[in-house]
Amino acid sequence: MRNTQATKLVFELSKPGRHGTRLPESDVPERPLDELLPPAAVADDPPPLPELAEPDVVRHYTNLSTLNMSVDTHCYPLGSCTMKYNAKRNERMASLPGMANLHPYQASATIQGMLQLLFDLQRMLAEIAGLPAVSLQPAAGAHGELTALMVAAAYFRELGQRRTKVLTPDSAHGTNPASARMAGFDSVTIKSNTQGLVDMEDLKHKLDQEVGVFMITNPNTLGIFDDQVGEIAELVHKQGGLIYLDGANMNAIMGITRPGDFGADMMHFNPHKTFSGPHGGGGPGAGPICVAERLGPYLPTPVVVRQGERYLLAQPSPHSIGRVRSFFGNVGVLVRAYCYIRTHGPDGLRRVSENAVLNANYLLSRVKHILPVPQGDRCMHEFVASAASLKKDKGVPAMDLAKRLIDFGFHPPTVYFPLTVQEAMMIEPTETESKETLDAFAEALFRVTEETPELLHESPHTTVISRPDEVRAARQPILKWSPPD
Ligand SMILES: Cc1ncc(COP(=O)(O)O)c(C=O)c1O
Repeated sequence: MRNTQATKLVFELSKPGRHGTRLPESDVPERPLDELLPPAAVADDPPPLPELAEPDVVRHYTNLSTLNMSVDTHCYPLGSCTMKYNAKRNERMASLPGMANLHPYQASATIQGMLQLLFDLQRMLAEIAGLPAVSLQPAAGAHGELTALMVAAAYFRELGQRRTKVLTPDSAHGTNPASARMAGFDSVTIKSNTQGLVDMEDLKHKLDQEVGVFMITNPNTLGIFDDQVGEIAELVHKQGGLIYLDGANMNAIMGITRPGDFGADMMHFNPHKTFSGPHGGGGPGAGPICVAERLGPYLPTPVVVRQGERYLLAQPSPHSIGRVRSFFGNVGVLVRAYCYIRTHGPDGLRRVSENAVLNANYLLSRVKHILPVPQGDRCMHEFVASAASLKKDKGVPAMDLAKRLIDFGFHPPTVYFPLTVQEAMMIEPTETESKETLDAFAEALFRVTEETPELLHESPHTTVISRPDEVRAARQPILKWSPPD
C-alpha cells in the first residue's frame, strides 16, 4: 500500500485551519493595512498556502526523501559519474559557520582563512594534475571544458594563429564536442580502433595546423587507459595544437600518474566525482581547471594569490578571458575537495585510485560471466558491459536490466553510453563499496538476466513512478500545482 504522506502533495494534505505553530495574541495596536502599504502592494486574496500541522510537514518531507536513491542509501555504480560515498566529515567541515556563513562581498581581509584554503587547494590540484596554473571558478566539468577551450582560443589569438578545429574521440562524453562548439571551434570526431583506443591512422589523417585542441579522456569512457597518449601528445604538439585531458576519470589514476606528465596542457577536475563532493540535482558542482604555465595568463579572473602573509583575489594578467562565474566558484564543493585531499594525503589518494581499479576489476571478473564485456578482461576504474546479445535473443534491452536493478536496491549503471558499445551498461563501483556489496550487485544482475522479458519490460515494480519520460520530465517539468477544477 502506498504511503500517501509521501506521494500526495502538501497542498493535497492541507486541511483548512490546521497550523504548525500558534503565535501569541499580538499586544501591538492594529492599524489598517491600507494605512501601511500602497494599494498596489496589497493582494486581493491571501496566497493559497497549504495548512498543515508540524508532523504532517515533517513526515511528508522525510518520506519524500526516501523515495529516491542516493549514495547514503544505495550502491550507485553509475559509470563515468563516480558516485562515491560522501564522507560525513567533509560535510561537517563545509557547514562550519566559519565556512558556510561567509559572504562573497566581504573584504578579503576578513576572509583570509577561506582564501588560504582556496590558495592551498589551487596548489594541491596543480600538484595532482602536473600543471601549475589553476582556476577554481568553473561550476562543473562541462563548464571547465568550455573555460579551458576559451583559454586555448585566447592563447591562439594572441599568437596570431587561426585554429578552427577541436578533435574528440567517438567514445568521448557528449560535453566534449558540445564545449568545442560553444567555444567557437568546429568539432571533428576521431574513430576508435577495435581495442577501443584512439585510431592513430584516423588521427594522423585529420590532424593539421588548423587543429587547436585534441580532447582526450584517459582512462577513456570504456575504462581503458590509452597508452598511446604520449605519442598522441607528441603528434598534436608537433602541429602546434594543445592536449586537453577530460579529468572525469581521475579516480583511476590520481597519485599514480599526472596528466601534465603524459602530455596534457589543460585539464579539468570534477571534485563532485573524484573528491567526493555531493552531486545534488545537477549541481552544485565544480570543475576547476589546471593549465600549463604558458596558458596561465589567460585563466579566468579572479585567481587567489599570496602576497607575503596575505591572500588576495587578483586578475591573472591583462590577457585573462574574464569571469566565467560569479564570485569565486562553488566554494562549498571546493571546501569538501580540500578536506578530502588533506584527509587522504598523497599516499591515500594513490590508494583511492588503486582500490577503485581493484573494485572495478573484481566486479568485471564476476559480470563478464553474466554479460559480455566487449573491451576485454581488464579495466581501470569502470568497464562497459553489453546487453546486445540478450536483446537479440530475448528482446531484453539494457534499459530493462537497468530499471529492474532498482527493485533489487541498486541504482542502475549508466546505459547507452559510450555510443561505441551496443546496449552499453557502464559500471563504476568506486573504491567506497565493499566486496559484499559488489557480490550482491553481481548476484542481482545475474537474477535480473534470468527473468522474463514481460516482467522486465514493466520494471521497476517497487517505485512510485515506474518509467517516466525522462527527457520530457527534464525539458518540460511541471513545477506548479493547480487546484483540481
Ligand atoms: C567523461 C566525462 N566528461 C565530462 C563530464 C561532464 O562533467 P559535469 O557533469 O561535471 O559537467 C562527464 C560527466 O558525467 C563525464 O563523464
